[in-house]
Amino acid sequence: MLNLQDVTYKKRGKYLLSGINGHVKLGDCITLFGPNGAGKSTLLKIMAGLVKPTKGKCQIESSSKNPIGYVPQQVALFEGLTVKDQLAYYQKITKQKSDTFLNDMIQSLGIEDILHKRIEQLSGGMQRKVNLAVGMIHQPEILLLDEAFVGVDLAAKYDMLSWLNQLNQQGTTIVFITHDWYIINSLKPTMWVLDEGQLLDQVEWNSISYLNLNGGSRSLQKMFDVNVANH
Ligand SMILES: Nc1ncnc2c1ncn2[C@@H]1O[C@H](COP(=O)(O)OP(=O)(O)O)[C@@H](O)[C@H]1O
Ligand SMILES: [Mg+2]
Repeated sequence: MLNLQDVTYKKRGKYLLSGINGHVKLGDCITLFGPNGAGKSTLLKIMAGLVKPTKGKCQIESSSKNPIGYVPQQVALFEGLTVKDQLAYYQKITKQKSDTFLNDMIQSLGIEDILHKRIEQLSGGMQRKVNLAVGMIHQPEILLLDEAFVGVDLAAKYDMLSWLNQLNQQGTTIVFITHDWYIINSLKPTMWVLDEGQLLDQVEWNSISYLNLNGGSRSLQKMFDVNVANH
């Protein structure tokens, strides 16, 4: 449902992404994995249609008018509004008619007790939950999450991951970025290993330690030395 063909992105003479080819199928769960600056966020924005590749293309096949839910790295919420009003606002602009989905999401994410609180009264973790809820309020076919779990405690992570696992099992496609092994172990994704703007390989989460790092950057090698081999 999402086809990347030779996706290349150049900014100020520098290649942030070079010749990325890949295919995201309905119901897939994929993580973009790699060191800081590898190009993960840029690729996710291209998948979301927010950034246009310099060369190549990213095609989306869907019968839905609004198939994509994008949750940005920065919390994007209005201060001064309650959680309930925030959700109602996005429900209105995305024309989401199903209250059932919304209520399921509120219950699953455990945000029913904070509906009357304003954004600035919430902890960072709670804001992340609301940020996730807002980004997927229209029940998208493809969910794109850019480090959506930063600063979230284990209990909140558990709620978010249970909800995402449930959706993925029901057929929602998820592409996410994280540096957190707890999340990778829970979602069991296919890992697209990105390094210096190149897609090195695509491997299952439990085969990552067998990845051939020849040609990988020093940062990628360090990541593997410190972390990956132990998981
Ligand atoms: N708008 C921009 N202009 C110039 N350089 C950018 C821009 N956005 C990102 N970069 C650079 O591109 C590289 C990849 O960025 P990014 O996609 O955010 O990587 P990641 O999410 O993997 O950390 C980084 O070196 C970053 O500094
Ligand atoms: Mg990033």
